[in-house]
Amino acid sequence: MTDLDAVVAAAETAFEQAAEPAALEQAKAAFLGKAGTLTEALKGLGKLEPDQRRAEGARINAAKDRIEAALRARREGLAAATLDAKLHEESLDVTLPGRRRGSGSVHPVMRTWRRVEEIFRSIGFEVADGPEIETDWYNFTALNNPLNHPARSMQDTFYVEGEDAHGLPLLLRTHTSPMQVRYARTHQPPIRVIAPGRTYRVDSDATHSPMFHQVEGLWIDDGISFADLKGVYTQFLHRFFETDQLRVRFRPSFFPFTEPSAEIDMMFDSGPLRGRWLEISGSGQVHPSVMRNFGLDPEVHTGFAFGSGLDRLTMLRYGIDDLRPFFEGDLRFLRQFA
Ligand code: PHE
Repeated sequence: MTDLDAVVAAAETAFEQAAEPAALEQAKAAFLGKAGTLTEALKGLGKLEPDQRRAEGARINAAKDRIEAALRARREGLAAATLDAKLHEESLDVTLPGRRRGSGSVHPVMRTWRRVEEIFRSIGFEVADGPEIETDWYNFTALNNPLNHPARSMQDTFYVEGEDAHGLPLLLRTHTSPMQVRYARTHQPPIRVIAPGRTYRVDSDATHSPMFHQVEGLWIDDGISFADLKGVYTQFLHRFFETDQLRVRFRPSFFPFTEPSAEIDMMFDSGPLRGRWLEISGSGQVHPSVMRNFGLDPEVHTGFAFGSGLDRLTMLRYGIDDLRPFFEGDLRFLRQFA
């Protein structure tokens, strides 16, 4: 007769030694499977006398129950261990500092952009927006730029694929001045508008970026003079820099679309930049030919225009002499303006 206690003990040991579920199921087969020890024992019952068979059958079944109980216990043990390991692996350290959602801030050039809009809106200017991909006509021809003007050359202008209705190449606007034309051709005087936006030139060093920002200004009515330009622009600078302690100078210059033309320079009377004339804007009285391209009669309407660098205004406001960090996206730099 089989020593059933020994079989049960062997099963318990085998189950205990099974380190993972697959090994446990294999160990189970050795005792309870088709060719397992107990199954073999049960097969042997047929050869016994009825009395013996009943007693032996009961013994075998009792052993089987014990083995099955041991199996269940080990299964539960292994499942608990697996869960424990998993929980341990995925454990949360609730004492670690949380990862906050970063709060963004407005880029310094955008702050300037918004300030400029605010100041000009407050004195009755509209704000207009227009395309950065321009036609040759709006960017050059309508602004009185002769066909052989150097600004048209490949060295300054980014040309893009495609052409306009006249077969001329499309380009990235080299200044915001085409917005004078777009706006004036679709509005009636009095015209008071600024057009801030991105502009592009093939140019790259500490103070020039291939993409930069300008704000165009245009005021047309009957009798708007250079004196109005001086008044409006000086007032703007005082408000933008929040000080009267600055001087403004209109230095004769040339632009094909204004006559007379002036470069606007400013000088702080105090602060780190005091005592140096700083170039800030192009400007002038709208040229009669350009006025005609606006669809207006230069004998009736006069006005001034200016085009200022928003990046430059930003650099002066914060006392930064290199343009590049504004567009490099280094948060250590940008956070200082937050
Ligand atoms: N568009 C000129 C430039 O980019 C600036 C300008 C604008 C000059 C309006 C006069 C009038 O340099």
